[in-house]
Amino acid sequence: MKLVQTIDALRSELDAVRKEGKKIGFVPTMGALHQGHASLVARSVAENEFTVVSVFLNPTQFNDKTDLQNYPRTLDADCVLMEQVGADLVFAPSVSEMYPEEDKRVFHYPPVDTVMEGAFRPGHFNGVCQIVSKLFEAVQPDRAYFGEKDFQQIAVIKAMVKDLGFAVEIVPCPVIREESGLAMSSRNTLLSEEERKTAAHIYKVLSQSKQFAANHSLKDTQKYVVDSINSVVGLEVQYYAIVDGDTLQNVESWSDSDFIVGCITVYCGAAPIRLIDHIKYKG
Ligand code: PAF
Repeated sequence: MKLVQTIDALRSELDAVRKEGKKIGFVPTMGALHQGHASLVARSVAENEFTVVSVFLNPTQFNDKTDLQNYPRTLDADCVLMEQVGADLVFAPSVSEMYPEEDKRVFHYPPVDTVMEGAFRPGHFNGVCQIVSKLFEAVQPDRAYFGEKDFQQIAVIKAMVKDLGFAVEIVPCPVIREESGLAMSSRNTLLSEEERKTAAHIYKVLSQSKQFAANHSLKDTQKYVVDSINSVVGLEVQYYAIVDGDTLQNVESWSDSDFIVGCITVYCGAAPIRLIDHIKYKG
């Protein structure tokens, strides 16, 4: 496995790969890699002849600078894991390599980027689109793999790909969970052992709410989730939105759509750490 740090070096490696007629799979990450990322890379390795993983902690998508400062950085361990799962190349550029000057481009994809994370983290999806578009230009992948944990991010990236005409297939991949049910996330390493146990209640309640939803209204189900999670000491719901899985707009009743997803953001513990998850009710 190769490690390259400049766009020029990346391009020359990938030109050679393309000349051999190989398909390129791409897994963009911000590092602090875990089994969730490993599953994306394993899928790319199975479906493409060459897999590129980027490790870049993108400053423009952090609206909270403390969150950026605290984000775990583990490049050496990341490379070991990526080699184990069969990645061919890790691209780990510096901030000045990706942003030689301020990126003033503005991306806006209503309605999918205005709600939920878009509303609570102003500028976040703009930063995601800035870096993902730069990475797609540099890598020019045939397929790109994204975890469904960031359910809304996939919708925004699909809108951007359509808008900018990138010839890449976006492949959404299922959430990978710890044994407790907690969705794997780089931010989990910032939780204490006790907080991890507390955080496991998020998915437990979401799962229980599927049964609850079978004989309750959408509004009652929403309240059930918020009240149940808020009743756990150490957890505080920021929002719980039950939305159409394609438009990400709120739905009022279970009959409003064939694809219904509940998306949640919860603050956990003393720091506190912001965790997101979701559950599919229909579709
Ligand atoms: O999902 C992430 O880790 C990031 O948002 C991404 C797609 C790598 C862009 O920085």
